[in-house]
Amino acid sequence: MATFHKIKVKDIYKETADTSVVTFDMPVDLKDEFAFQQGQHLTLKANLDGEDVRRSYSLCSSPFEDQWRVAVKQIPGGKFSTYVNEKLSAGDTLEIMPPSGAFGVDCSEDAKTYVAFAAGSGITPVLSMIKTHLAKEPNAKFKLFYLNRTVKSIIFKEEIEQLRNKYFGRFEIFYFLTKERRDIELFNGRFTSEKLKEIFGKLLYVPAVNEAFLCGPEEMIFLIRDELVNAGMPKENVHYELFVTGLSEEDKKRAERLAQQNVEGVDVTIVDGGKEFHFTMTSDYDNILDAALGAGADLPFACKGGVCSTCKCQIVEGNVEMKINYALEADEVEQNFVLSCQSVPMTEKVKLDFDV
Ligand SMILES: Cc1cc2nc3c(=O)[nH]c(=O)nc-3n(C[C@H](O)[C@H](O)[C@H](O)COP(=O)(O)OP(=O)(O)OC[C@H]3O[C@@H](n4cnc5c(N)ncnc54)[C@H](O)[C@@H]3O)c2cc1C
Ligand code: FES
Repeated sequence: MATFHKIKVKDIYKETADTSVVTFDMPVDLKDEFAFQQGQHLTLKANLDGEDVRRSYSLCSSPFEDQWRVAVKQIPGGKFSTYVNEKLSAGDTLEIMPPSGAFGVDCSEDAKTYVAFAAGSGITPVLSMIKTHLAKEPNAKFKLFYLNRTVKSIIFKEEIEQLRNKYFGRFEIFYFLTKERRDIELFNGRFTSEKLKEIFGKLLYVPAVNEAFLCGPEEMIFLIRDELVNAGMPKENVHYELFVTGLSEEDKKRAERLAQQNVEGVDVTIVDGGKEFHFTMTSDYDNILDAALGAGADLPFACKGGVCSTCKCQIVEGNVEMKINYALEADEVEQNFVLSCQSVPMTEKVKLDFDV
C-alpha cells in the first residue's frame, strides 16, 4: 500500500552553500517499516502552494546507524529542493513513504572490492554504501571517484575524510574538479573516455572490481558503464541510479511508437493492499499509473519519469510495454516487474500486482 507517514525533521543543516542535510525523527513504532538497505531512497511529500509535490531522496546514512538522513541539493527553480533549502526547519513535518529502490547490493562474506563514481549530490546513496560495506565486511575495499565543481562544493567532504582515516588502506578517494585547476591534469574536468582509460591504467584495476556503483548525470553514467564493461566488468555488476533523465533518441522513438498504441477500453486490474481494483482505461491516459490514479486508486509514485522505481509492480496477466526504464535491473524485468508510470497496455486485459 502507498502509505505516507507524517515524520518530524529532527535536524537540518547546510552541508555546502546549496545542499541541506535533513535528519528525521523516526518514531520507534515506524523503525521496522522504515528499515532500509544501503542505496535506497525515501519519497518525501509536501504541500507547496496548494500542490502536493513528491520527490525521491537517497538515504545517506547507513542502515546500522539508526538514522534516517537525506541530503537535498538545491536545483535552480526546483520546487521541492528550494523548499527544503530555503524554508524547511527542525520541528517541521514532512510526509514520507517507506524506503524503496534496489541500487545497492547485499553485504558479502567475501573480500570484495567496490568502486563508485559519483558526481555532486550523487554521493548520497554512495556514502551509505561506503559506510555499510566497510563496517560490515572487514576485508572489503572501496574506491571512490568523486566529481565536483570546486572544493567548497564537495558534499560530505569532512565525513568522507574521516572515513578515509578510519578505514585507512581499505578506502581510497580521488577527487575530480571541474571549476578549479589542480597540478595533476587527470583530476581536472569531467570524466571522459580518455580519462577513464588513464584511471583504469593507473588507479583502478577493473578485473579486480566486484561491484561498481554509478550516480550522477545520465551521460556520465552511461559513459562509465560502457568503459567498465569494455574493460571486462560484467554488465550486471555495474549498478547505476539516475536522479533525472533527458530522453535519448532511442527512448523518444519508443515513446512515439507507444503513443500510437490503442489503449481505449483496456480492462485493467490492480492488486494493492491485498485488494483488487478494476477499471477500464481510456485514451485520456498514456500510462497505467495515471489511468489508475484517475480512476481513484491510491498507488505509490514519485518521479513519474522512469527513474525512481516507486511505482514498481509485477505483471500477473496480459502484457505491457515500458516507454522508458532507468530504474529496474534486467533480472527484475525478466521477472515481469514494470514501472507503472511508464507502462502502456499491449493486451485487452492486464492485471498488475503492487503488493510484491
Ligand atoms: C531515486 C532518486 C534519488 C534521488 N536522490 C537525491 C538526493 O539524494 N539528493 C538530491 O538532491 N536529489 C535527489 N534526487 C533528485 C530529486 O528527486 C529531485 O528531482 C530534485 O531535488 C529536483 O526536484 P525539484 O522539485 O527541486 O525540481 P523540479 O521542480 O522537479 O525541477 C526543476 C527543473 O530542474 C530539472 N532537474 C530536476 N532534477 C535535477 C537534477 N538532479 N539535476 C539537474 N536538473 C534537475 C528538471 O528537469 C526541471 O527542469 C533523486 C532522484 C531520484 C529519482
Ligand atoms: S514514479 Fe518514478 S519510476 Fe515511476
